[in-house]
Amino acid sequence: MAKIAPSILSADFAKLGEDVKDICDRGIDYLHIDVMDGVFVPNISFGADVMKSLNNTVTVPYDVHLMIIEPIRYIDKFFTENTGFITVHYEACDDLASTIEKIKEGGAKAGVSIKPGTAPEVLDEYLKDIDLILVMSVEPGFGGQKFMDSSLPKIEYYKNKREELGLDYVIEVDGGVGSGNAHLVRDAGVDIIVAGSAVFKAADRTAEIRAIKGE
Ligand code: DX5
Ligand code: ZN
Repeated sequence: MAKIAPSILSADFAKLGEDVKDICDRGIDYLHIDVMDGVFVPNISFGADVMKSLNNTVTVPYDVHLMIIEPIRYIDKFFTENTGFITVHYEACDDLASTIEKIKEGGAKAGVSIKPGTAPEVLDEYLKDIDLILVMSVEPGFGGQKFMDSSLPKIEYYKNKREELGLDYVIEVDGGVGSGNAHLVRDAGVDIIVAGSAVFKAADRTAEIRAIKGE
């Protein structure tokens, strides 16, 4: 069984509060917040103020995914009492070690993500300082894309490394996962599954959430 972090990128922005309230009542573990700057990825989503507008509605921690260049500039804005993880991209940081440190100094847990074209070994030297590794299973930028199974050996890589080195980071996967293929990432050893369109567009959201988690 895995945990689930539905992405509000696929929510109805015209009634975001209602959608978030609805989803929080259905056995989810985190709320995934996809922040895009139109530079690191070819799309713009929303920023910290939109996330903070949900502070009185959410009942689970935020799982913030920053798809922005040099995120160290904006990390401060995402510290709230609801913030669980703040994840940055390996490819977007000049100084990843300082970026991780800044996240932790603010009281959040530090995540690092790699894009589909990035080899998992690039994080080897940072593993002991990382709380969460986010393996992208689509090119970041858009919801509703097809799952790339090249993410599976990466999940296994980080699972084996964790055991070998005696570490305790969690492994998350993001993109194209729904009830039909979630077993693949669960079998590979993932701890948290991000799901946007599969959850928000489901006729029965609770059933979809349970199926993705493997309950
Ligand atoms: C993609 C985002 C994902 C996306 C997932 O850049 O990071 O979180 O919203 O959406 P689905 O589950 O629809 O692929
Ligand atoms: Zn995401």
